[in-house]
Amino acid sequence: MELTPEEQEMAAGKFGKATQKAMEILVTLGEIYGAKRLIDITSVQVAGVSYANLNEPGLKWLDEMARDGKVKILTTLNPAGMDLEEWRKLAISEEFAKNQIRVVDAFGKMGIITTCSCTPYLYGNLPHFGEHIAWSESSAVCFANSVIGARTNREGGPSALAAALVGKTPEYGFHLEENRQPDVRVNIKAAVQGTYQFGALGKVLGDKLGSKITYITGIPKASVEELKSFCASYATYGGVALFHMEGITPEKVQKMPEETVEITNEDLNKALSELDEDTEIDFISLGCPHASLAELEYIAKKLEGKKVNPKKEVWITTARPTKQIADRMGFTKMIEDSGAKIAADTCCVVAPIKGRFHGLASDSAKMCYYGSGRNKFSVKLMSMDECLEEALKL
Ligand code: F3S
Repeated sequence: MELTPEEQEMAAGKFGKATQKAMEILVTLGEIYGAKRLIDITSVQVAGVSYANLNEPGLKWLDEMARDGKVKILTTLNPAGMDLEEWRKLAISEEFAKNQIRVVDAFGKMGIITTCSCTPYLYGNLPHFGEHIAWSESSAVCFANSVIGARTNREGGPSALAAALVGKTPEYGFHLEENRQPDVRVNIKAAVQGTYQFGALGKVLGDKLGSKITYITGIPKASVEELKSFCASYATYGGVALFHMEGITPEKVQKMPEETVEITNEDLNKALSELDEDTEIDFISLGCPHASLAELEYIAKKLEGKKVNPKKEVWITTARPTKQIADRMGFTKMIEDSGAKIAADTCCVVAPIKGRFHGLASDSAKMCYYGSGRNKFSVKLMSMDECLEEALKL
């Protein structure tokens, strides 16, 4: 890879050890993937924040990087293993909380904005069309590439942090126009509505087509919430980082693919039935990806003046800044008076809750995937209304 004189100095250690280490990571990656140079980026989102995933070796590495590392551009974090302020209400242990705070402090020391969320685009880490960025969370990567039209590879935690410390990323993969063209056209002949059905559609496409870039037609409209659910599920089931959706996503494709696939109501119903286990629900998770303000308002109005069945635990995960607005608007009180809990900064997949519950209901196909695979819960994919009815049911 050809490096500028400044990049060579960074690689030689002139700007400190953390920047030198970061350059080593970026150059190695660039050489593996055949990048010719590093390019400037405007935004980073770093995953690998939960202490449950990092443990002591990961934290030790972060502490080393934080000794002299400072990020050069806007950088935010993926969800942590707990609500950083109200972890006690989620029954997180003191020991875990202490370690999780050490992790977030190390990131903060590097100048990273310690909002921990998988929807950075909802609260201010929002790139515009065509901007080069380095994000790690798979659902956010898919949203950034597809819905916004920004350009990012799916970074690992260390490569995203390295990109933040240098302000650059190697130019390969989805940063290049030629790698953003669709492989297959998908005609949707099914009626798809609501976050849970968009999630089910992501499962259908991911299961059928893997990580091929699709050009999707037949979706007349989709809300931000439906798209974020679709991105999360499609990235989970297919490893997809980019799709095009006619009339909805902004990028103009250069060449239409010849292969065409049709998706019918039957396909959608099959995916829905595969995520409908016969189980007693004791845990309801909403806000995957992190709930938008509109979703919090909707949930608050549905729960106002009602009581959740005390035998069921309800978590609505969201970003801290979104919760702060919900606090001011009274939505948090309406939700928490019912017994449901808003869990900011965290996610039910990276929180240490394995074994605590048995039956999970969620409107997110991604949450069902990890709830079953990682936390060993039985799962039911339901609409948001059905999840809330389930929460209230005695
Ligand atoms: Fe976000 Fe966790 Fe879902 S990171 S996309 S809430 S699994």
